[in-house]
Amino acid sequence: MRSYKNLVVSIDGNGILFVTISRPEKLNALNFETLEELDEVVSLIYNENMVKGAIITGAGEKAFVAGADINEFLTLNEINGRKAAERGQEIFEKIEDCFKPIIAAVNGFALGGGCELALACHLRIATPNAVFGQPEVNLGLLPGYGGTQRLPKLIGKGRAMELLLTADSITADIALAYGLVNKVVTKEILISECKTILEKIFTKAPLAISMVIESVNIYYDAQRNGYQAEANFFGHCCDTEDFKEGVKAFFEKRKADFKGK
Ligand code: COA
Repeated sequence: MRSYKNLVVSIDGNGILFVTISRPEKLNALNFETLEELDEVVSLIYNENMVKGAIITGAGEKAFVAGADINEFLTLNEINGRKAAERGQEIFEKIEDCFKPIIAAVNGFALGGGCELALACHLRIATPNAVFGQPEVNLGLLPGYGGTQRLPKLIGKGRAMELLLTADSITADIALAYGLVNKVVTKEILISECKTILEKIFTKAPLAISMVIESVNIYYDAQRNGYQAEANFFGHCCDTEDFKEGVKAFFEKRKADFKGK
């Protein structure tokens, strides 16, 4: 695996890819270079058979990601600003659409693009010091990496409007109450908790897992009929070896041995 300038990436024996956004002196702000590196790593999650799922976190004690890198905002105009937003959206959509599970381990500030990155992941586990917010309007902007779309989907329009319009940030406890995070755990067990969740998912049939992700994502796509997609996926699963193995294992009262076929 190659080394990256702004990411630390490693894989463990269970197929979990650990991705740490590592610009701690800038609270892991996402500059364009970091975004491109992230895109490369997401491709690795898609394409590398050894990788079965991933955990994304931030380096240091304070931040997951404190936003897009505001230093790079100085050069933005209408044309390159739109392009930058489209590129960020594309990368975060690739995370959301990934057929392998990706968990955000939110270990501190998740503001602006950091909150958007967490929103794009399939699950979010946070530490008590995590802070979520979309403060872009403070800078005369709105979120550009999908925040106005994913936040209302996850926490509802009223709460999303409040966060987006006031630029207020919320604590991990409130994020939990809003359904923005799945769980809050101490920083000592943050990564092990994410690993436990992924390892549980890895015991399930991989094709079924990938179809759950896609089917749930289709629910939010107004252009597509989610019920029809679900039925199609269901039919497809019925033709897999893993389905036969899962049902056989149930009757034989043993754990299923899924092959992803
Ligand atoms: N882009 C670029 N640099 C950032 C950054 C960002 N989004 N967020 C933090 N940094 C930098 C700071 O400029 C500072 O750099 P410096 O030491 O060279 O001055 C360093 O990270 C540490 O941040 P600092 O503000 O000193 O930490 P703090 O604990 O006092 O405050 C925050 C933490 C998160 C509240 C504050 O950094 C902040 O408001 N960041 C911007 C958040 C934001 O608006 N994000 C959305 C962008 S669209």
